[in-house]
Amino acid sequence: MVTDTETDARLAAARALFDPAPGSVYLDAATYGLPPRPTVEIMQRALAAWQAGTADWVDDWDRLGEACRAHFARLIGAASASVALVPSVSVGVGTVASGLEAGATVLVADDEFTSVVYPLLVAQARGVRVRPVPFGELAGHVDHTTRLVAFSLVQSQSGRLAALDDILAAASSVGAQTLIDATHAVPFVGVQTSAGEIDPRIDYVVCAAYKHLLSPRGVGFLYVAPQALERVPPILANWRSASDPYGDHYTGDLDVAPGAARFDVSLAWLPYVGASVSLGLLVDWQRQGALDPVRELARRLSERLGLEPTGSSLVSVPVDDAEVATRRLAESGVRAAVRAGRVRLSPHVYSTLADVERAVDAIAPFVRQPVGR
Ligand SMILES: Cc1ncc(COP(=O)(O)O)c(C=O)c1O
Repeated sequence: MVTDTETDARLAAARALFDPAPGSVYLDAATYGLPPRPTVEIMQRALAAWQAGTADWVDDWDRLGEACRAHFARLIGAASASVALVPSVSVGVGTVASGLEAGATVLVADDEFTSVVYPLLVAQARGVRVRPVPFGELAGHVDHTTRLVAFSLVQSQSGRLAALDDILAAASSVGAQTLIDATHAVPFVGVQTSAGEIDPRIDYVVCAAYKHLLSPRGVGFLYVAPQALERVPPILANWRSASDPYGDHYTGDLDVAPGAARFDVSLAWLPYVGASVSLGLLVDWQRQGALDPVRELARRLSERLGLEPTGSSLVSVPVDDAEVATRRLAESGVRAAVRAGRVRLSPHVYSTLADVERAVDAIAPFVRQPVGR
């Protein structure tokens, strides 16, 4: 059991790198995460060099995408060669969807985030079948017709965890592939086995970096397992996805990188510059165990509000009127979000036990308790 002092102490070094507005409590990493100061500083330097025309686009900007690829790979326990750089989750899902053949059935949650579902729904025009089922029942609905199960590991509107092991076991028993949206999971909820490597039953992971990965918008990742590489056509092939991105850009022959980099999309330069620093810090914090206390803060929030902890870093609070409750939180200086009629609180390394207590004091009177409580 982690004590309060330990929780606060383990976060203190990381917290010193952040500058939330004085007096404010930012519990909304699930909308966008706050950047550490070194991230802002490297971006400011990059902006100045851009303005002055002194930046080298390859060495100062583009190559930092490789650092991002390596850091994200570390965060999920994968090889860099299995990670592609994509601007958003929908681009990753759309790429995978392009490899689905007519007649394939894809299982999704009936309340899945649209960037995961829409690219699959578009594939229906080519004969792909999309079957929505309740999030908690995904594993039970896998059958011999299932070709792909696509789901968020942590639901953005509820913070609930998917039954990962059950889903992976069910999918592999019928030879179905699996696609995980890890946007609200990594770096707090992993996709690794106890050996620290990504579960080999996972075929694809998509992840946007502007939330819990504390990076600018425009940075995202698509992990493609070695066994799935040849099943996905590089539909967005471009100069950056070639085997030598800095070579000749004017040849007519299709040349794609040997690994998942064949799915790279030309990088949003300045966001990747910033992300290279944020992701590097997250790798360090993960190694030091400095990320564990964040889930501890989320657990504390849940327990203090009489809610069942979800195991993720998100806390979704049932209230009668979410707008009124968030207004009350805002009056107390607490930044939260509303999703699916509930108030969503999402701490990060910059959060403290005092932040949690301030949020609890503000929202507790509005919490709708389950019947019979
Ligand atoms: C579950 C989930 N996935 C992905 C995203 C971001 O999607 P995209 O990168 O397509 O904007 C969000 C944003 O809220 C989300 O909640």
